[in-house]
Amino acid sequence: MAYTIFVLATLPVIMAVLLYQLDTFAPAQYPDHELTPKQPLFVPKRNTHMLHGSEKIGAGELLGPEDVAYDPITGIIYTGTTDGWINRVTVNESAAESKVEKWVNTGGRPLGLVHGHHGEVIIADAVKGLLNVTRDGTMELLTDEADGLKFKLTDAVDITLDGILYFTDASSKYALHEFLFDFLEGRPHGRFMSYDPSTKQTKVLLRDLYFPNGVVISPDQHFVIFCETPMRMCKKYYIKGEKRGSVDTFIENLPGLPDNIRYDGEGRYWIALPTV
Ligand SMILES: *[C@@H]1O[C@H](CO)[C@@H](O)[C@H](O)[C@H]1NC(C)=O
Ligand SMILES: *[C@@H]1O[C@H](CO)[C@@H](O)[C@H](O)[C@H]1NC(C)=O
Repeated sequence: MAYTIFVLATLPVIMAVLLYQLDTFAPAQYPDHELTPKQPLFVPKRNTHMLHGSEKIGAGELLGPEDVAYDPITGIIYTGTTDGWINRVTVNESAAESKVEKWVNTGGRPLGLVHGHHGEVIIADAVKGLLNVTRDGTMELLTDEADGLKFKLTDAVDITLDGILYFTDASSKYALHEFLFDFLEGRPHGRFMSYDPSTKQTKVLLRDLYFPNGVVISPDQHFVIFCETPMRMCKKYYIKGEKRGSVDTFIENLPGLPDNIRYDGEGRYWIALPTV
């Protein structure tokens, strides 16, 4: 108890000292007009039926699994963990029988992952950039910079049916272990980009984003959604049609900070909110 009180009492001091020492730390105000809800979004704080049908897979064997990519042909689930491994999880009849295999270690921190069209797994690695891991486990760097600026926190990736990769670099200033400073500073250091494997070209589509995180392509291939975590919103970037190249709000005023986003193939997007 005394310890807890001590920690709680000294935490602000420690934070202040840390922030003071980071001389490049330059706090700014978030754009209030974008954070002020136009219409309040009402959501239940709890969803009790949600947990009824769920089972824990690989409990105790996976350290901080971030994203998942399911291979419907082999039934294997791929996920990256804090120890740098891309894990292959085979789920048998019951979750208790699931098997975790450490497959390839990126030497970094695999965050986002998606299956490519040639049996490969494409990884958004916070430390390394965008990686291609082929079926036989060979790893290749696809890109780690754009317009002369290196990625510092490559976060999430998705692929269109015609093979173009869309991905985010959450911050060009702060690395993953410093992400809190990015939030506290309140300045937009993130970029939303594309990579075309046929030309090996990386294109910056949007810059000055607030910690752009999860990415998903709409099922009709018309737009890409990405979430800006501290802004509590997700935006749409059009890749086809009249609105091509423009941005719209997909959802704002979320009841927590959005992380990854996935489409379930049945008309629903799932957004992970690690905080409320
Ligand atoms: C799945 O379960 C069956 C029956 O218990 C077993 O024979 C099989 O080896 C298991 N497969 C894996 C991949 O664990
Ligand atoms: C990944 O590498 C494999 C093997 O070279 C290649 O067939 C595939 O097209 C690559 N994927 C991307 C997205 O570059």
